[in-house]
Amino acid sequence: MTRCRILPIVPKLQTKLKVKEVIRNMKIILLGAPGAGKGTVAKLLTEYDGSVQISTGDILRAAVKEGTELGREAKGYMDRGDLVPDALIMRMMETRLQQPDCANGFILDGFPRTIPQAEALKKLLEKLNIRLNFVVNLEVPRDVILDRLTTRRTCSNPDCQEIYNIKSNPPLPDGRCKKCGSPTIQRDDETEEAILNRLETYNEKTAPLIGFYEREGLLKTFSSVSSAETVEAVKKALKEC
Ligand code: AP5
Repeated sequence: MTRCRILPIVPKLQTKLKVKEVIRNMKIILLGAPGAGKGTVAKLLTEYDGSVQISTGDILRAAVKEGTELGREAKGYMDRGDLVPDALIMRMMETRLQQPDCANGFILDGFPRTIPQAEALKKLLEKLNIRLNFVVNLEVPRDVILDRLTTRRTCSNPDCQEIYNIKSNPPLPDGRCKKCGSPTIQRDDETEEAILNRLETYNEKTAPLIGFYEREGLLKTFSSVSSAETVEAVKKALKEC
């Protein structure tokens, strides 16, 4: 069973990455309220070690855009800020976690979201003989979260989906993505009503996962509001695991 491995890397690459070691095969879960920065942290971590970000929100939004059966079923829940039913999510994730790119490591962003999803994931990982490194709990004050969610912009290109913030990390002055040039947009669930519902849903259904993973001995809480600091702390914890 593989946990994260720390490998020596060639000097040229070492200079580029500005680290002495590269961590491979990380297998972590990112927990946190909407707007806590899960997507931002996940993207920074994948750039670091080449593991894949699996965001259930991104998969669902792509399905909505493509008009697939999954997308048609999920859209109403998502627009209201409600959770999509567990059975749909588990079917989707059972397939996703067995795709070949997951062998290089994965960062689960926005999954699991309920105790039944966490229990089903535990069984699925046992079946696939996969062991998690740990669960990252991002703790960010509510006022910061509310401000971030109303000022977020996301690249509309489904293959890019770069995350911006008009205050802390704006796109180009004409509103286009700095990476691929596509327009950036506000998500359909970024109305005030949907944001408040998502925060309530988080408190009721997702926050109990903190206790669940604490009991599993897997929880690590990071209370910094800086994504860069959080990423450094996660990398340090991975080296120690
Ligand atoms: P999902 O897409 O997962 O949304 P979420 O959990 O509500 O999280 P967000 O994407 O809103 O926030 P984030 O924590 O990733 O923050 P971000 O990095 O973007 O889910 C959407 C919907 O899909 C759900 O409501 C549900 O309906 C459905 N769904 C998804 N998964 C499901 C599941 N497992 N079960 C059932 N239903 C599911 O950052 C936010 C903003 O802050 C950005 O503008 C960013 O630039 C900025 N920011 C981030 N970090 C910092 C920082 N350190 N300093 C300053 N600004 C920052």
